[in-house]
Amino acid sequence: MSTPARKKVLLMGKSGSGKTSMRSVIFSNYTARDTRRLGATIDVEQSAVRFLGGLVLNLWDCGGQNAFVDNYLSSQKDTIFSNVAVLIYVFDITSNEWDGDLRYFEDILFALRENSPEAGVWVLINKMDLIDKEDPQRKKFKERKADLMRVDQSVREELKDETIKEVLRCFPTSIWDESLYKAWSSIIHTLIPNISLITSHLTYLRDLCLGVEAVLFEADTFLVIAKSGSPLDCDPSDLDAVEIDNGARELDQQRFEKISEIVKGFKKTCSRNHEQYHGFEAKFNDCTIILEPLTKNTYIMIVSVDPRVETGALLYNVHQSSAHMV
Ligand code: GTP
Repeated sequence: MSTPARKKVLLMGKSGSGKTSMRSVIFSNYTARDTRRLGATIDVEQSAVRFLGGLVLNLWDCGGQNAFVDNYLSSQKDTIFSNVAVLIYVFDITSNEWDGDLRYFEDILFALRENSPEAGVWVLINKMDLIDKEDPQRKKFKERKADLMRVDQSVREELKDETIKEVLRCFPTSIWDESLYKAWSSIIHTLIPNISLITSHLTYLRDLCLGVEAVLFEADTFLVIAKSGSPLDCDPSDLDAVEIDNGARELDQQRFEKISEIVKGFKKTCSRNHEQYHGFEAKFNDCTIILEPLTKNTYIMIVSVDPRVETGALLYNVHQSSAHMV
């Protein structure tokens, strides 16, 4: 058996921004409400999460109190910032100390780029649920993002290191909705070693099933691992009249992450009642959907809008293909 790829993931940000909450919701089956019980993280809490059998995420949840951060940037600098695959930096959108938050971020980004120039950098601006009512256009998020991009640019210019390829990526998140799954799915997607092969197999299976979309979820976290890419996900101006009549324009860009959140909640309810979630199938109008286990570590969802397609045929294809997957 091949040894799994190990990736070091740093989870950083000011105290109370929501790092441990995110980790607990995604990897430890906490509900958002459960996270209210969490205490502050002392120093660094390390955990290893096995993903898809072939990937181990070494999560370093770094407590965000100032005294700890000062240590990360001085005596612990080499230990913390070397061999990092990804830095996930979490901000609290409601923080009143944005300038100070930004300065800390700049120091951390500098230390990271110096020690792990090829690391990916993801910034999650969290607790968006707390301001969404007063700022529905997300002006504050856009301003924060612009500031962060400027910091990224200035760190690059200062370091002048050609090996720094990755530009910072920024997501608005809340542990109370699917935006958390959207952000973490995008991050994990970049860490899976054979992701383009998985995606091309998904697209092949989708076409074989006369489907419009095939999506792969990780079985425990229910994060979206890969999407076949749907013709309906194109620029809205490229949609044809039939697709528009079918409601393609109204499709929610985060619909699969919404499914992650719903199914994860449902699985939790099942286990509370000593039941197990096995899968789901539905047929309405011309639409056929299945969400079934594909391998030990994955579930697959196939959506077809072809009236000739039957759920049994989709299930049969999934069953046949599972023999070819790892
Ligand atoms: P340290 O361990 O001290 O570094 O803090 P942390 O970043 O790990 O924060 P933690 O996850 O402990 O969260 C602090 C509080 O924020 C908890 O009470 C969470 O319930 C709350 N919280 C986390 N994320 C969100 C969010 O998206 N929205 C809201 N409203 N509250 C959140």
